[in-house]
Amino acid sequence: MAVYYDPETRTFTLSTRNTTYQMKADELGTLLHTYYGTKTDTSDLSYAIHMQDRGLSGNPYETGQTDRGYSLDQLPQEVSCFGTGDYRTSSMKITNEDGTAALRLKYADHKIQKGKYSLPGLPASYDGEGAAQTLSITMRDEESGVTVELYYGVFADLDVITRAARIVNDGPGAKYVNKAGSMNLDFVSGEFDLITFYGKWARERVTERTPVNHGNLSIGSVRGASSPHYNPSAILCERSATETAGEAYGFAYVYSGDFLFEAEKDQIDQTRLVCSIHPMDFTWKLAPGESFYTPEILMTYSADGFAGLSNHFHEFIRKHIVRGKWRDIRRPVLINNWEGTYFDFNGDKLVAIAKDAAELGIELFVMDDGWFGKREDDNSGLGDWYPNEKKLGCTLKELGERIEDTGVKFGIWFEPEAVSEDSDLYREHPEWAMTIPGRLPNRSRNELILNMGREDVQDYILERMTEILRSAPISYVKWDFNRSVCDKFIETLPPDRQGEIAHRFTLGTYRVLEELIRTFPELLIEGCSSGGGRFDAGMLYYTPQIWCSDDTDPIERLTIQYGTSFIYPPNTMGAHVSASPNHQTRRVTPLQTRGVTAMSGTFGYELDLNKLTDEEKQEVKRQVRVFRDLYETLEQGEYYRLTTPFSDTCTVWEQVSRDKRTAVVNAVYHYARANHTPVYVRLRGLDTEKTYRLRLTEGNDYKTLPEHEQILFEEGRTFTGRTLMTRGIFIPIYLTEYQAWQIIAEEA
Ligand code: GLA
Repeated sequence: MAVYYDPETRTFTLSTRNTTYQMKADELGTLLHTYYGTKTDTSDLSYAIHMQDRGLSGNPYETGQTDRGYSLDQLPQEVSCFGTGDYRTSSMKITNEDGTAALRLKYADHKIQKGKYSLPGLPASYDGEGAAQTLSITMRDEESGVTVELYYGVFADLDVITRAARIVNDGPGAKYVNKAGSMNLDFVSGEFDLITFYGKWARERVTERTPVNHGNLSIGSVRGASSPHYNPSAILCERSATETAGEAYGFAYVYSGDFLFEAEKDQIDQTRLVCSIHPMDFTWKLAPGESFYTPEILMTYSADGFAGLSNHFHEFIRKHIVRGKWRDIRRPVLINNWEGTYFDFNGDKLVAIAKDAAELGIELFVMDDGWFGKREDDNSGLGDWYPNEKKLGCTLKELGERIEDTGVKFGIWFEPEAVSEDSDLYREHPEWAMTIPGRLPNRSRNELILNMGREDVQDYILERMTEILRSAPISYVKWDFNRSVCDKFIETLPPDRQGEIAHRFTLGTYRVLEELIRTFPELLIEGCSSGGGRFDAGMLYYTPQIWCSDDTDPIERLTIQYGTSFIYPPNTMGAHVSASPNHQTRRVTPLQTRGVTAMSGTFGYELDLNKLTDEEKQEVKRQVRVFRDLYETLEQGEYYRLTTPFSDTCTVWEQVSRDKRTAVVNAVYHYARANHTPVYVRLRGLDTEKTYRLRLTEGNDYKTLPEHEQILFEEGRTFTGRTLMTRGIFIPIYLTEYQAWQIIAEEA
């Protein structure tokens, strides 16, 4: 049983295949957190919580005057409340109508149900196959009349536990939610590192490992989107944890707006993790009877290092976050015209690209920015979602049909949440833009943001997108979002609700996406936010893939995709082969290297195919074939990072098919150096008993390698899985700068 309640000890034990999570409602009603880690039994683990009088850490009144050891300031808890004696950072802060801010939630009741809870208006993982159980624990603060339901979704097979909460105002007056935490997770012992994914435009999700020392270590966003600056995910691990060993806990927030993730080490070296909507610009008013749902957070644990943790998340996101038709079927290899033409195109030019693409085996053509309104550059036109027929030379329907006639599907770009001041929409509805009366707004890429918290704005976007999507054969949409949100104001909200705008903005975007998917269930939507500026599990609920970064340089992508892979699977990472020299870095790289890197993402192209030589076109054809052949392994298989892009000469990663009959070892050299030091790797995830043969991918003749390196690929030579995972192999040397290899291990 995934959820077990012992009425005698009042313990709740959540069991997954390899992990146990336990909590206990103690005599005073505090919901203690007693354990999370390697699987153990269901016995009451609260004995291990040490209590002692610590000066300046007070005691709840009901403990009497004798027990000074019982302090909310040191007990590990499932939900931590501000204002009643726990002075660490808290997961919930609520202010009453009279201005007092005090909350003390006590256990009241619980329910265990089959299936998975859902969260109205918010993305959340779903069950579908009867794989999950839900535990809801009701916590009450009698004095203020606040009820909080804590939700736990247990996906036993995948070692994932999800959490969320519902805050209800059961009291008389209004309440103001100042901090809405999805998770409070306390560890009474352990020395930890926190791994986070920081970045910026064109350099998203770079890993950074920081010791959790005394104080509060936090990452977050107040940009209205999860942002490229800090991804809403993190790993807490023991100091010695590596890819292959050690305890590691992973967290992914299923939310795309402002967030805060905190790790705090307290006075007695306990560690607390809190994940919440960022409280800096958040207050949510609850009138009597109203309730508020926090977003969901995913948690997983691995006793065997980061690879285990990543594989739990990959499978979970693929199966229980991504939805619809595109969850299970192969996504099309696409070509996007952005880096090929930028704004300089017309219908004929696009059809010519589509024609070339079709001949090379590409399956979808995406028309990027510039097809609508008055949009010759990025200074105008956003919001006017009407095709520019003069520029296209035909209607959108005609263009779509011409594209489809070449043999590829047709997709288009939108930036629904944005508006240009130079647009008919802005001239007609200036009040729809996010601005504060009497204050000049902040411009970014010369655009303003639409107030997605307003229903009329949401309806306008839905109406425009629906009409466009109905008007032409469109099977794919790139949903872009190219700025951060500030200047927040909604004229229809009273002053004490203005703090709701950031969250309402995110909910508005979710509503539009949800309705769009309901109307067009076949549509494939790719998320984007100036590249990977809103790459999170919340968006993946609506958009099965997200453009990983505007940086398409394959060497830069090694770092970006490496960081992204800790949490998100390859089939969510938009990745394209672009031109060389690269447009962002000017670096010249082989086409093969660009192909190998992009194949560990959704795979596509973003260049002017007309500028390729015949030989290069043949190489593109080959790449598309290789990708299709290896699709199951590359996109659905287990993922292993064998070296890092930071300290090693060569980044090496591996995907292994579910049946363990095929593995792909991808290797990209970062630089060439005389008297090269060999790169050795041990493969992972193979079947120890199976026998494998190694080969290079199609188009690479192993006989071009130095003679002594050919030994790996010689006819008739086989290796056991055990050998490949213990002794391992060397990576063939580079024959050119930035050489990439794909070595296939196939069951012999
Ligand atoms: C953003 C996206 C790009 C492209 C441009 C178009 O920068 O990340 O891929 O779509 O917008 O303006």
